[in-house]
Amino acid sequence: MMQPENQRRAYLEAMGIDVWLPRDSADAAATDDMAETSAEAMDWESLRQAVSACTLCGLSQSRTNTVFGIGNPEAEWLIVGEAPGAEEDRRGEPFVGRAGKLLDEMLRAIGQRREDVFIANILKCRPPNNRDPKADECASCRPYLERQIELVQPRIILAVGRVAAQNLLGSDDPVGRMRGRPHQLDGIPLVVTYHPAYLLRSPSQKNKAWRDLCLAARLAAEYGA
Ligand code: URA
Repeated sequence: MMQPENQRRAYLEAMGIDVWLPRDSADAAATDDMAETSAEAMDWESLRQAVSACTLCGLSQSRTNTVFGIGNPEAEWLIVGEAPGAEEDRRGEPFVGRAGKLLDEMLRAIGQRREDVFIANILKCRPPNNRDPKADECASCRPYLERQIELVQPRIILAVGRVAAQNLLGSDDPVGRMRGRPHQLDGIPLVVTYHPAYLLRSPSQKNKAWRDLCLAARLAAEYGA
């Protein structure tokens, strides 16, 4: 397995940044800061390359493909899910399985097509056996999503499911308590709703998801108007 120092170096090199070998732990901390600062400044292409070369967490060992995200880079709607599943890992695209089909239908219901919005996940790599993402994996991946949000500048963020909502809002609340009301992330309106995989198992909750989508559409229309 790659050592953390080597992982950091590979990450910085993938971003085209000169690598200075740290002499002691203070230098090592500075190198960490540099990686985050650099993610803040990346354009779409360098961000995409950094994600595909990323070895910041152990998921890089088991992934088939990174799943960067897909859609309109200037979308009004940013949809954030949890992490790639088996099919997404194979194809390198988010939400392409059964849950993805339902997500497409939910978007269609509010007049949006998959190609109109931008779809991303908290994690860019699949956790083995679809286990929950670990805190350190989410932390390593966070700068990528933050930069995607900055680049897209959406009018509304829709967090689908517990993992996305808890990570974005820094909360331990269940989805049932977070959904149905407006939140904000760095001043951008954010709405929480059920994950489409959950809605496939519990179709009786679809009416609540519909209300969440209507709330999101209203907030998107109001934001910056
Ligand atoms: N579930 C998610 O949260 N994201 C995907 O990309 C696929 C399934």
